[in-house]
Amino acid sequence: MLGVNLVLKFVIFALVINSCTSVSIQDNSYVREACSVTRYRDLCVHSLAPFSTTAKRNPSIWARAGVSVTISEAKSVAQYLMKVKSQGHMRGRNRVALNDCIECFQDAIDNLHRSLGVLRKLNNPRFYAQLWDVTTWLSAAMTDQDTCLDGFDGQKGKDVKLLLNRVSNVTYITSNALALVNHLATTGLESLDDP
Ligand SMILES: *[C@@H]1O[C@H](CO)[C@@H](O)[C@H](O)[C@H]1NC(C)=O
Repeated sequence: MLGVNLVLKFVIFALVINSCTSVSIQDNSYVREACSVTRYRDLCVHSLAPFSTTAKRNPSIWARAGVSVTISEAKSVAQYLMKVKSQGHMRGRNRVALNDCIECFQDAIDNLHRSLGVLRKLNNPRFYAQLWDVTTWLSAAMTDQDTCLDGFDGQKGKDVKLLLNRVSNVTYITSNALALVNHLATTGLESLDDP
């Protein structure tokens, strides 16, 4: 009898553990669902997972989250570019490209900040005009990043490769943010009223 009781307790214990895990799987499913509209899904899920519990199925929160993480990553890359510049290893054509890149990133970060500012103040009468502005600025930020990449076209070397990887990564994250904003546009105004 005691044995059965013990087994029963164990089963209940296992069920409790199981329901805990299913909570986190549930959380994860929100971010997966949100990221399903993006092109670089794994990167999207990885970078936006922390927002799952607050954003749930709210497209406007996901759009803001997408732009926020893009700003963080763009700032981090801008800092890295400054560091590469201060090390002074890049010469000739690469040095020119690096300086252009730094300017492009400042412009990109401005465009991203502007986008986030508007996403925080979305309101009914201006909703579509606001989203139009945001998509324009996010596209401009992507163009800035592409211009940076173009400067190093055909260049080789470990330093350049690392730089290109980091900059490409930002273009992917920006593309994801743009997809989340586009998704918000398709869901329309009613999504603003969600909790
Ligand atoms: C790309 O960005 C993500 C999110 O910020 C970051 O976690 C990851 O380390 C970055 N990868 C590269 C190669 O820079």
